[in-house]
Amino acid sequence: MIRIAASILSADFARLGEEVKAVTEAGVDWIHLDVMDGHFVPNLTIGPDVVRAVRRHTPLPLDTHLMIEHPERFVEAFAEAGSDYISIHVEVVADVLSVLQRIRELGKHPAVVVNPETPFERAVPFLEHADMLLIMSVHPGFAAQAFIQSTLHKIRSAAEFRARHGLAFLIEVDGGIKVHNAAQVAAAGADVLVSGSGIFATTDYAATIMQMRRQAELAARKAQWT
Ligand code: DX5
Ligand code: ZN
Repeated sequence: MIRIAASILSADFARLGEEVKAVTEAGVDWIHLDVMDGHFVPNLTIGPDVVRAVRRHTPLPLDTHLMIEHPERFVEAFAEAGSDYISIHVEVVADVLSVLQRIRELGKHPAVVVNPETPFERAVPFLEHADMLLIMSVHPGFAAQAFIQSTLHKIRSAAEFRARHGLAFLIEVDGGIKVHNAAQVAAAGADVLVSGSGIFATTDYAATIMQMRRQAELAARKAQWT
């Protein structure tokens, strides 16, 4: 089953509640929230207060992607604000394992993230402790960038590794996913497709989400048969 996570980075922030409601009603599975600190990535976005505000507008899981230095200082605040998944980058944390364990203790799903240039192997030691691996398919920091094709092999490696080791972590892919390329991402082995501008820059959210899901599910099923 493919899950679609709408990244609110491309929503109209002045009408954020309405936008979250609209994508919820249009059929997305998760809401993806991009937290940026101006240090780890060259952009600033939202903090726990916005997560708390979004929480009031949807029953869907909140998938909080922390693109910040010292995530260990903030995981508690994001958990308390209503996040369900909390993702931390392997590039930024000295002791990834203890932050994942802290997220678990807080009753939330821990996830690890790798940037496009970070090899899959960097995430391997943490996969048995994480509920999800997030593979970046753009350089984090901004919405509406082009999907980096070379990340497809990393998705395949992750899916193979999971099968070989009997693990159950979800594989999420984030950046540049639109209706036209959802199939190749799903065929490579992704379970969760994050899409920001691919949804919010279209006029009919429900039609976009339906097409994206249909393309992705068909491709995932076909990949299983072959
Ligand atoms: C990039 C963010 C992504 C981004 C996705 O730094 O982590 O979640 O918002 O946006 P699109 O789908 O427009 O690439
Ligand atoms: Zn993201």
